Amino acid sequence: MIEIERVSRAFGGLQAVREVSFTVATGSITGLIGPNGAGKSTLFNIIAGSIPPDSGAIRLQGEDITGLPTHRLFHKGLVRTFQIPHEFSRMTVRENLMLVPAAQRGENLLKSWLSWWKVVREDREILRRADDVLAFLEIDHVRDELAGNLSGGQKKLLDLGRTMMTDARAVLLDEPGAGVNRTLLGKLAEAIERLNRERGYTFCVIEHDMDLIARLCDPVMVMANGELIAEGDMASLRQNPQVREAYLGTGSSGQTGTGT
Ligand SMILES: Nc1ncnc2c1ncn2[C@@H]1O[C@H](COP(=O)(O)OP(=O)(O)OP(=O)(O)O)[C@@H](O)[C@H]1O
Ligand SMILES: [Mg+2]
Repeated sequence: MIEIERVSRAFGGLQAVREVSFTVATGSITGLIGPNGAGKSTLFNIIAGSIPPDSGAIRLQGEDITGLPTHRLFHKGLVRTFQIPHEFSRMTVRENLMLVPAAQRGENLLKSWLSWWKVVREDREILRRADDVLAFLEIDHVRDELAGNLSGGQKKLLDLGRTMMTDARAVLLDEPGAGVNRTLLGKLAEAIERLNRERGYTFCVIEHDMDLIARLCDPVMVMANGELIAEGDMASLRQNPQVREAYLGTGSSGQTGTGT
């Protein structure tokens, strides 16, 4: 579904991603792990069109999408969430969801209060869809709450919910489990599994919680210092000496990332 071919990107003298190649197979939940600063989010930013690679190519179902802007990728069914949730804090949870389809159509809602209001008031179909998403993620009880008041975990669910408002086929999740409590984490994992099974979403998931990765992902890609160092199922990676060294040697495996 997504082919990443020899992608590289430097920031000044720092080689954040170096000649990384792998494939996210259609229908898979592919994991992407590695110590802090390994280059995982940078790779996501490149795939999702937030920043261009210095070299290399990204293909989506055989089509070259390298460097395409985010809204074009939206149209092609490729969406992503951020390591730090990007909710509109002064709008309600339901309004946050309802904005997504309009944004996908390319309307600049931030600049046009009027069209935002129109979307929220007039589009019954979008309203119904938002309510379905709220029910699916079991956050309907906070639908009229301002998004800024949600807990960290609820914001992560809302972020996932935003991907469900589009006709997504491939979804990139950057640390969906970070800051999420045990109960919500189970809910989040279940939602990801159901979206994969019932709606055919393909996922690529960055995550530091190895139990979550082990439960959801096969295969799992491992990056360290910008490079892809291993791939396989979680059980075999746990035994892999190179992977263990990447975490123990240079890494800080216990920490949660703070980049974007
Ligand atoms: N916009 C930027 N400008 C300069 N350096 C950057 C930028 N984005 C990332 N980096 C650097 O690139 C390297 C890789 O960062 P990246 O955020 O991709 O790591 P990560 O694997 O997502 O880490 P974490 O698990 O902590 O989120 C880091 O050294 C980081 O400081
Ligand atoms: Mg990151």
